[in-house]
Amino acid sequence: MTASLPRPRVLLTGASGDVGTRLRPLLAQAYGPVRLSDVVEPRTPLAPGETFVRAELSDPAQVAEIVRDIDAIVHLGGFSVEGPWETILQANIVGLHALYEAALQAGVKRIVFASSNHAVGFYRRDRTIDHAVPPRPDTRYGVSKAFGEALGALYADKHGLRILNLRIGNVGDAPLDRRRLAIWITPADLMQLIRIGIEHPALRYEIVYGMSDNSRAWWDNRRAHELGYRPTGRSEAHAADILAREEQPDPIGDRFQGGSYCSQEFDHPEPGASGTGGTA
Ligand SMILES: NC(=O)c1ccc[n+]([C@@H]2O[C@H](COP(=O)([O-])OP(=O)(O)OC[C@H]3O[C@@H](n4cnc5c(N)ncnc54)[C@H](O)[C@@H]3O)[C@@H](O)[C@H]2O)c1
Repeated sequence: MTASLPRPRVLLTGASGDVGTRLRPLLAQAYGPVRLSDVVEPRTPLAPGETFVRAELSDPAQVAEIVRDIDAIVHLGGFSVEGPWETILQANIVGLHALYEAALQAGVKRIVFASSNHAVGFYRRDRTIDHAVPPRPDTRYGVSKAFGEALGALYADKHGLRILNLRIGNVGDAPLDRRRLAIWITPADLMQLIRIGIEHPALRYEIVYGMSDNSRAWWDNRRAHELGYRPTGRSEAHAADILAREEQPDPIGDRFQGGSYCSQEFDHPEPGASGTGGTA
């Protein structure tokens, strides 16, 4: 892959979170000095070249500060699980809009957005979905990620920002349970996708799945492969251990890709009908 930016100046939002903390050394290795931002302090001391600027995403003035002189944003910041509507609204909708608007004004060229599998969680597990399926969010959180993908499309199509949306499965050193055998991604594979978002010369607007090389996957990730993604993590190497463990059945969650996010607050009067008809 040819880098289209000589040495992009990178901003990592959500840098104090779980994924951000894992990515920091990988980003520093790839891009040298990186600006970190979050509303809370980083979990580990700053490495040489790292700088930290505290910012609340829903405050446009603070967001304008963090995007200044930046070429590419890796946007992990936000509320990362299901929560009350007001919380999701501020962090993931108002905050995301503030970030995109500030990025446009500051001349940022690229954004890699941490979307989520929960944007499409109500697809059944017996269906393989690709990057082109309509959203079927399983939570208010999932709705906010679908909103983020749509907002990215607007800024790409109307203003020419280059956007990569990563529908991330679950980031970790190893898959944690049966569901995550299908959706797990290693930090190194996630970093590979981020590099595609920051460097791929032909990238305009894309959605790909953030998963490693998982033979039990429900996702057809050919678009990522077309963009050059070659994952090295293999969840099957962990399958025997995980399948030997007992898991609590979840009659609703086990049917759908989003798992327990689907069964939370689930009160569909015809449980068999949800996600079985229409396009899901
Ligand atoms: N961890 C995963 O496997 C996974 C899976 C799918 C998607 N994602 C997405 O990736 C991103 C990172 O996930 P994570 O697991 O590291 O989450 P996390 O909750 O550990 O980190 C998110 C960070 O965002 C910051 N943040 C929250 N609201 C903010 C606000 N209003 N202003 C500024 N900063 C704010 C938090 O302080 C936190 O440090 C999230 O957007 C999440 O939705 C993660």
